[in-house]
This record gives sequence, C-alpha cells and structure tokens, in this order.
Amino acid sequence: GVLVLDFGAQYNQLIARRVREAHVFCEVVPGDIALDELKAKQPQAIILSGGPASVFEPGAPTMDPRILSLGIPTLGICYGMQLMAKLLEGGVEPAAQREYGRTMMELDVDSSPLFTHIPAQSTVWMSHGDHVFRAPPGFRVLAHTATTPIAAMADPARNLWAVQYHPEVRHTEGGFQMLENFLFDVAQLTPSWEPAQFIPEAIAQIQREVGAGRALIALSGGVDSAVAAALAHEALGPRLSAILIDHGLMRAGEIEEVVRAFPTLDLHVINRADVFFDALKGVTDPEAKRKIIGREFIAAFEYAKRTAGHADVLIQGTVYPDVIESGGKNARTIKSHHNVGGLPEEVGFTIVEPLRWLFKDEVRNVGLALGMPQSIVWRQPFPGPGLAVRIVGEVTREKVEIVRQADAIVRQEIEARGLQRAIWQAFAVLLDVRSVGVMGDQRTYGYPIVVRAVQSDDGMTADWVRLDPDLLETLAHRIIGEVPNVNRVVYDVTSKPPGTIEWE
Ligand code: XMP
Repeated sequence: GVLVLDFGAQYNQLIARRVREAHVFCEVVPGDIALDELKAKQPQAIILSGGPASVFEPGAPTMDPRILSLGIPTLGICYGMQLMAKLLEGGVEPAAQREYGRTMMELDVDSSPLFTHIPAQSTVWMSHGDHVFRAPPGFRVLAHTATTPIAAMADPARNLWAVQYHPEVRHTEGGFQMLENFLFDVAQLTPSWEPAQFIPEAIAQIQREVGAGRALIALSGGVDSAVAAALAHEALGPRLSAILIDHGLMRAGEIEEVVRAFPTLDLHVINRADVFFDALKGVTDPEAKRKIIGREFIAAFEYAKRTAGHADVLIQGTVYPDVIESGGKNARTIKSHHNVGGLPEEVGFTIVEPLRWLFKDEVRNVGLALGMPQSIVWRQPFPGPGLAVRIVGEVTREKVEIVRQADAIVRQEIEARGLQRAIWQAFAVLLDVRSVGVMGDQRTYGYPIVVRAVQSDDGMTADWVRLDPDLLETLAHRIIGEVPNVNRVVYDVTSKPPGTIEWE
C-alpha cells in the first residue's frame, strides 16, 4: 500500500481518502517516522503531505532524508515538495507573492507519466507562502504557473515526483487523475483494496493492541462509538465490556435502540441523570454547561469503570474530523467539544482508536458491512452534551422533555419523507424566551421551538437546508399541537459560518 508521511496539513486525510477511493490501501504516519519502521511497513509508494509550516522555521517538521534514496516511488505535495527540494539541495525561498486559490498551471513537458490525460493548461488549487525556485540536481521541471516557476518536478531515475499544488481537493482539475497516474503508472500499484478489507485489518489491529487483556468502550448513542464497538466486539468477543452513561439528555428512544443493537455485548447502562441535572441547576452560560457535562461525564465514567469489567484498554470511536478539531495546533476553541470518547489521560487507559482515519461516510459503510441495524448506521450526528446544548438557558427536566418531544417529531417527519440520509442534521432547539399566541380563543404565552436542518460534509461548514414549506407547516402544526408549552415554531436560515450548527 501507500504510506502518507504527515507534515500537519489540516486536510491531509483527503489524500489518504483519495488513495483509498482508488482502491489502494493507505496509511497515514507521522512525517518523522524512523527509517526502520518505515521499511518494516514495506510501502509500495510514499506521499509526503502538505503542511502549514515553512521549511525555514526553526523546528519545522522534517523527515529522515535516507527515505528519499530507497527507490520507493515518492510524491511530494506542497510542503512535501519543498521539503524534498531542501533535503536534496534544491532551492526554496519565500515567494514574493503568496499564491492562494485557483491558479492556471501550464505543463513544461510534452509527456510525463504523472500528467497523462491532463491538458497542457489546467486549473489547480494552490496554497503556499514558500516555493521551490531551483529544482534539485537530477530533477526536471514539469510545470509552472504565472507566479510559481516550479509547480511540478520529477527525477524519474530516483523515482521522486513533486507538485506544489493540491491534487487532493476538488478544485484542482485533474487532481485525482494525477494521483491515479502516480499510483498506477508511476508506482505500478494494482487497484485491489476494497473498503470491506478495512474490517479484518481493523480487527487484527484491535487484537494486536489489546493483547491478551480486556477492553472497555463507552457508547454514546452515536454512529462512531457504535461502529467502533461492533468492530471491537468482533475482535475481542467476551473480552469487551461497554458502558453507556445515561445523562438524561439523550434523544427519545436512543438508549433502547443501542441496547437492542448489541444483544450479545456485555453492556452496562449507567443512569446518572440525577447527578447531571443537579450539577446543571441554575447554570445558563453555554461554555459552563459544556464544562459541567464534560466533568460529570468523567466522574460517571470513573464510577462505571469499577462496575464494568477490569480493562486496561479503552476503545474509542474517534473519527478523522475529531482528530482535526482537537489536534490542530492553530485551531481556536469555538466550543469545548465534549466527545463521549474524549476522556483525559488521567483515566489511565491505553487508548485504541480503530476509526481514527475514516470519514463519517466511511464509518457508515463499515457499520453496514458489519451488518449493523440501519437505525444506528444512518443516525445523524448528535453532540456529546446531548439535548443540553439544544436548550438555550437553564437545563431542567421539563425543558429536556419539551425539546425531546419536538426533536422526535422533527426526526419522524424527516424520516417519513426519506430525507434523513440526505440531511446532515435536523433537530429542534428550545429557546428561553416566550411569546404571545392564541389557541382556541385563549391567549397563550409559551416557548418557541427553533427547527434547524443543515447540509454538511464533515460538520466543519454547513448550509441550511431549503426544506419544503409543506414540511415546515407540518412540523409547526405537530410541534405546537403535541408539545406542551410551545406556541411558536421558527426555522433557522443561518449557515456555518457565521452560525454554528448547534445553538450552544
Ligand atoms: P457546531 O455546533 O460546533 O457543531 O457547529 C459541529 C458538529 O459537531 C457536533 N457537536 C458535537 N459533537 N461533542 C460532539 O461529539 C460535542 O461537544 C459537540 N458539539 C457539537 C454538532 O452536532 C455538529 O454535528
């Protein structure tokens, strides 16, 4: 397979994903992987990723230069190209002009295996501050843009290839074609890997990492932890125990559904609703609410750990977008994300994350291939702090009940129209203001429910969904008619950014 050496770009996993989409197995490893460790993996091709640093910065990520003389077909992308140039005595300099976004690239050679089927001029997506101004000895320049003299270069004799642009993003015309050219023409790989192969590989990995001991998994009700649990259960059988902490903030029917999905798993549902509601009493600040829930979750987990089988290893359903959100050195905290998986180190476990490199849709495919129920696999993302972040202001049992009922109606109506797979998330939010209404000649003074439905690929950006007005009408009618104390329904037409998906 292919080894991607990671130099820290936020969207590096897109490279891995494109390679997998081309049916070639791909693994991402730290850029500074030791030579022996790399050799042991016997990669058939190597990709050096992009990254936010400049090769001139002190402490900029680097790699063992001997990797470049192994004769393994190697493709440097962006920072990966600059690093290759620096290590092989080419010239890198800060560009006079930062190049960002769509750019016209022109090929300088009539034919190169890297650019088969790619027109002489094509649009590529650039994002760099430095550039290579002198190719290393033995290299030939393959392409340029108006501001970047060397947009692609290669030394076929040493099997080293490099591009300054980002082939992994959709804005680059022929980007996937170039990657496929690299995989199949340059590196001569055979497209044989199937997503289903991920399953035996992940099972073997879990067995290896857990060894002879026992493991624990915390289920959240979400897809990711459920799929991780199903994999771990396959791998470990009775050596896996699971806990599900019921914080009283779950959606209607959620706990029952999870329990039903795992009939043979040693699953302990731990009811801590009283503790969570006590801790949340009188708290209105969104970040304070999130922190309290995170803290109480850890306390509940510590408690549960003593009752649910002695384990040394914790399996977590961390998926790739979580890795970006929490790992990005440049990322700012917008919200304290609380992943039911995101327990601090002091919990004292070895952590195993079998889904770490997958995107949500890939996780769903794994779940389907494992034969998990559709109701779990197609469940929309749900925040770790649960319905608490969908109640603006203080969280009380009464308000949770209101928003839970409204949420159930939204989900029913979305499902009834077969929309739940097409929509990233559709849900209800309860506000802490009241407004005047009239029902059956009576004045009412009740709460508004906000209906929110968004489309997204990864939760990082989102667009509001143009729901059919008839559907909105049905939602308003049912929510006001069936949920006590609600007399108004409004629809949220804010995208992310500037809004976030959840209200808190
Ligand atoms: P925001 O509201 O930040 O949400 O736009 C982005 C995505 O993340 C989900 N979300 C969370 N997921 N723990 C989670 O596991 C959290 O604390 C959390 N907060 C928000 C949200 O539902 C959306 O899919």
